[in-house]
Amino acid sequence: MKKFRIAIAGGGSTFTPGIVSMLLVNYDRLPISEIKLYDNYEERQSSIGKACKIMLRERHPEVEFSYTTDPEQAFSNVDFVMAHIRVGLYAMREQDEKIPLSHGVVGQETCGPGGIAYGMRSIAGVIEILDYMEEYSPDAWMLNYSNPAAIVAEATRRLRPHSNIINICDMPVSIENTFAGILGLESRKELVVRYFGLNHFGWWTSITDKSGKDLMPQLKEWVSEHGYESNTEDFQHRAPSWKETFRKVKDVYSVVPDMLPNTYLKYYLYPDYVVEHSDKDYTRANEVMNSREKEVFTTAEKIVASDTAEGYEFHSGAHASFIIDLASAIAYNTKERMLLIVPNNGAIINFPANAMVEIPCLVGSDGPEPLVMGEIPTFQKGMMEEQVAVEKLVVDAWVEGSYQKLWQAFTLSATVPSAGVAKEVLDDLIEANKDFWPVLR
Ligand code: NAD
Ligand code: G6P
Ligand code: MN
Repeated sequence: MKKFRIAIAGGGSTFTPGIVSMLLVNYDRLPISEIKLYDNYEERQSSIGKACKIMLRERHPEVEFSYTTDPEQAFSNVDFVMAHIRVGLYAMREQDEKIPLSHGVVGQETCGPGGIAYGMRSIAGVIEILDYMEEYSPDAWMLNYSNPAAIVAEATRRLRPHSNIINICDMPVSIENTFAGILGLESRKELVVRYFGLNHFGWWTSITDKSGKDLMPQLKEWVSEHGYESNTEDFQHRAPSWKETFRKVKDVYSVVPDMLPNTYLKYYLYPDYVVEHSDKDYTRANEVMNSREKEVFTTAEKIVASDTAEGYEFHSGAHASFIIDLASAIAYNTKERMLLIVPNNGAIINFPANAMVEIPCLVGSDGPEPLVMGEIPTFQKGMMEEQVAVEKLVVDAWVEGSYQKLWQAFTLSATVPSAGVAKEVLDDLIEANKDFWPVLR
C-alpha cells in the first residue's frame, strides 16, 4: 500500500501539533511515510518541530520527520502540502482587529477591513508556497486553509488557475458537529447537507439523514430559541467570545428563517451590535495569544524539557480531521461529499461563473466535482454579490497596486458605513501594513 509524504507549511502554527497528532491517529486510514514542516520563521517552528519529533519517535518511529526553512528540502517528493500560514503573525492580527475598531468598525480576522488587510498580506505568502510545491513536487496537492480563505481562493483562481490547490474552511464542519449534537446523532457524517455561499458567508438549505429524513424542522426549532448554543463539545470554539457568536446565530437566523446560517454572517448583518460588544483594547488576537498560543508553545517546551510526549496531548480541531478526510478522498478517489471553496461555474445558477463559492463537492483523485445548488433567493444573492465584489476588488488592488480599488473594496463591505470611514480605516491599515502590502498608488 502506498504511503504518503506530507509537507505542512506554517510549521510553527498553533495548529501544527494537532494536525501531526491527527495524522498519526489516522495512520491506518491514510498511511504516511514522511512528515516535513516548513516555515519562514526558524525559531518559532523549531519549538514545535522539536516536540513533534519526540511525539513521532514515541508513537510512529517509522514515519520520517524533519523541519526546515529550506523550500527545496520541504517541498521535494511530497504528495500533499497542508498549508496554514499567518503572514504577519498575531501581532498583525491584533492590528487588523484594533484599527477598524478604533474607527467604530468591525475588527475581525477574516471579515470587513481586518480580513481585507489580512488578505493583502496572505496572497503573496500562499502563492509562494504554491509555486514551491509546483517546482519541487508538480503532482502534489495543496490543501490550503490559510486565511482569509475567500480572498486567498480568489487570488489563486486568478493568478494560478491550473494549480492543484483546494481552499477549505472548518467552520461548516464545526457547525455540522453542533447540528449532530443538537439532533443527538453520533457524528456529522450522518448528515447529508446542501449549502451555498462564499467562505465565512453562507447558508444550509437542506439537512437530512442518510435515509432522506428532513432534519431541518428540528434544527430550526432549536436555533430559533438558542442559536447554535448547545452542549456539543467544540474545543476550537470554546472561548466565551465564540460562545457569544454561536448564541448570536439566533438573530442571524431570524433574518432568513428558511435556512441555517454560517456564524460569520453576524459581522455583515449586525455590524453595529458587534462593534458595541467589542473591547477595542482587548480583541480575539489578545485572547488567542494568551490562550491557544501560550498553551501550545508551553506544552511543546515541556515535551522537549522532559524528552517525552507521554501525558501530553495537543488538541486537534475540526479542521484537522477535515483535512485528513480531504487528503484521503484525493488519495483513494472516494468521492466523499465535502464543502469546499471552488469556482462557481454554474453550480449556483444565478451567480457569476467566476466567483469562488463554498458548496458541496464530490472529491476524488482529480479534485473536487462541484454539485449544482440551483437558484438562490434575492436577499442572499444581493449580499453575496456585494461581498464577492469586495473580494475581487481586493485581488485587483493587490495585482494592480491600486489604492482606488482597495478603497472601493472597503467602501463596499457591508461592515463599513461610508466611503469616508472606509478611507480613514484604509489609510491607517496602509501605514500598519507597509512591510507586507504592495505599494498602492
Ligand atoms: P500562527 O501564527 O500560530 O502560525 C502561522 C505560521 O505561519 C507561523 O509560524 C508563521 O511563521 C508562518 N508563516 C507566516 N508567513 C509564512 C510564509 N510566507 N511562509 C511560511 N510560513 C509562514 O497562526 P495560527 O493561529 O496557527 O493559524 C494559522 C493559519 O490557519 C491562519 O491563517 C488561520 O487563519 C488559519 N486557520 C484557518 C482555518 C479555516 O477554517 N480555514 C481554521 C483554523 C485556522
Ligand atoms: C473558525 C474559522 C477559521 C478561523 C478560526 C479562528 O474555525 O473557520 O477560519 O481561523 O475560526 O479561530 P480563532 O480561535 O483563531 O479566533
Ligand atoms: Mn474558516
